[in-house]
Amino acid sequence: MSRLLEVRGLQTAFPSATGETRIVDDVSFNLDSGEVLALVGESGSGKSMTALSILRLVPKPGRVIAGEIKLEGRDLLDFSVSEMRRVRGGRIAMIFQEPMTCLNPVVAVGAQVMEAIGLHDQIGQVDARARTRELFAEVGIPDPEARLDAYPHELSGGLKQRVMIAMALSTRPEILIADEPTTALDVTVQAQILALLSDLQRDRGTAILLITHDLGIVNELADRVAVMYAGRLVEVAPRQELLSNPLHPYTRGLLRSIPALSPPGVRLPEIPGVVPSPDHWPNGCRFSTRCGERFEPCAEIFPEETAPTSDRRVWCHAVDASSRDPEGEAL
Ligand SMILES: Nc1ncnc2c1ncn2[C@@H]1O[C@H](COP(=O)(O)OP(=O)(O)O)[C@@H](O)[C@H]1O
Ligand code: SF4
Ligand SMILES: [Mg+2]
Repeated sequence: MSRLLEVRGLQTAFPSATGETRIVDDVSFNLDSGEVLALVGESGSGKSMTALSILRLVPKPGRVIAGEIKLEGRDLLDFSVSEMRRVRGGRIAMIFQEPMTCLNPVVAVGAQVMEAIGLHDQIGQVDARARTRELFAEVGIPDPEARLDAYPHELSGGLKQRVMIAMALSTRPEILIADEPTTALDVTVQAQILALLSDLQRDRGTAILLITHDLGIVNELADRVAVMYAGRLVEVAPRQELLSNPLHPYTRGLLRSIPALSPPGVRLPEIPGVVPSPDHWPNGCRFSTRCGERFEPCAEIFPEETAPTSDRRVWCHAVDASSRDPEGEAL
């Protein structure tokens, strides 16, 4: 697999009473072609802002203040506005939790996808309609011909999300960023949409950055997992290693709260407390206000990156410092 996207030292901030609050702070990760990387963490940890930073869509007055976002070696932060628009309408596509907010309620869904195709490829109406019908079939929309002329309110939540995925695929992206794509759907439909994403990754080789607060979804789909807490990554690892041997206390807390991944009969404790707001992040380890394993340096000294094995990274004072990776190579 070749390296498609390299995010290095990403910092995204909003103005605050004290200057600037970094809601994404020194985040680094890679996405290889064809892989599914899950970005996981509780609500408010900065997952969506990381995704929006990649696409340069951070809402003002927020902005990316540092870092690199390299797409096959070229930094998206150096792209002109029009180059960036081409990236968003082409190589990188994004789908959101609420498909309704992205669909125009007064335009038939087929026409909306046809428009996206038309903007990207200069093809006629007839061809665009045929391509849209094929895409609808590919994303599992039953009776695609009839559904082309449906309005968003005539479709279920699951079908609307399929339309959004069809629209995202219309430009043949190499990267699909899916931000909580199934959170608004009921469990059965959730499973169907996850299966669809898995098919796309397999059949089209699309790399997926899958954002979720749900480690159960990670278990279904991800090749690797990056766990985020309060604007920082706390652990990055291949899925199986992360699920079977989580090293960071926060990852362990997330795992304990998932029924399917816990031993039978074990009560599921939530991680006590809440993610502190960005203005109240501790100086040291951001998780120190909630961590049951906190010890002397934790509240004051930020834990450095350690690499317990060549394909894992973790930021915690309790993880053996001797395993620190001198190269600091992000995974
Ligand atoms: N427009 C904004 N102005 C200031 N802070 C914001 C804004 N939008 C989001 N934030 C803050 O950024 C942090 C990260 O938010 P977000 O990326 O949406 O988290 P997640 O997607 O992990 O739930 C949150 O603490 C949130 O309060
Ligand atoms: S650095 Fe300390 S407070 Fe933070 S997760 Fe590790 S043990 Fe807990
Ligand atoms: Mg979010």
